[in-house]
Amino acid sequence: MNIIFLGPPGAGKGTQSKLLEDQYGLVQISTGDMLRAEVARGSAIGQEAKSLMDAGKLVSDALIIAMLKGRIAQDDCQNGFILDGFPRTLAQAEALDEMLKADGKSIDVVLFLDVDEDILADRISGRFTCANCGRTYNEVSNPPRVAGKCDACGSHEFTRRADDKRETVVERLKEYRKLTAPILPFYEKTGRLHSINGMLPTAEVTAEIKAALGEIP
Ligand code: AP5
Ligand code: ZN
Repeated sequence: MNIIFLGPPGAGKGTQSKLLEDQYGLVQISTGDMLRAEVARGSAIGQEAKSLMDAGKLVSDALIIAMLKGRIAQDDCQNGFILDGFPRTLAQAEALDEMLKADGKSIDVVLFLDVDEDILADRISGRFTCANCGRTYNEVSNPPRVAGKCDACGSHEFTRRADDKRETVVERLKEYRKLTAPILPFYEKTGRLHSINGMLPTAEVTAEIKAALGEIP
């Protein structure tokens, strides 16, 4: 099964993809995580992406489509994947359908996490991530079970994302409204879009997603 998570910054795409990965035997592909790894490595892709990411802008379609195409061709993606953060533009959505079609594959379902904008900035400003394993937490809604210790790996080191500053979040939301929200009708017209109430507590959102996945033939 191949799944897309769509939704604004802070909607819970990363949180929910990680929860579903193991249970459904799928691989999470986060284009944001891939780009942050390139930035950390100081690669050519990272250098091109960094200033745009820091400004809350999308990186170019050409760069991201090439990166994603390489990733989904890898062996671990052949049994199905969860796209988290891709596609973000109509051009990316069309390119994705074409590259999958060439391989006799397709997207089975697009899960749209619907969250009101006034909630998003607070969620993002409370977010922190385990520096060792990447598990995401939230100061208010999702703290580690033991304060200061990662539930998953026991690490005591946490980081915050450079683009989670309030002024950058405003820009990310503008990019979302202008470039990403318009792709919802693209998936709606092919009957692949399922809207999920992303404002419920995390476990209830997961339950809604599983119910939606249960309806997929
Ligand atoms: P990316 O890394 O994809 O960021 P994003 O889409 O802005 O999404 P986030 O990671 O901020 O949010 P999320 O929905 O995953 O929420 P999370 O689960 O963490 O992209 C970063 C940048 O990379 C872009 O700005 C762009 O520059 C570039 N980029 C990436 N992909 C690109 C592409 N395809 N094209 C062009 N450029 C691209 O949750 C947020 C917080 O809320 C956490 O603290 C979490 O614990 C908490 N939370 C989650 N669910 C709930 C809940 N139900 N209730 C309460 N709290 C919750
Ligand atoms: Zn950890």
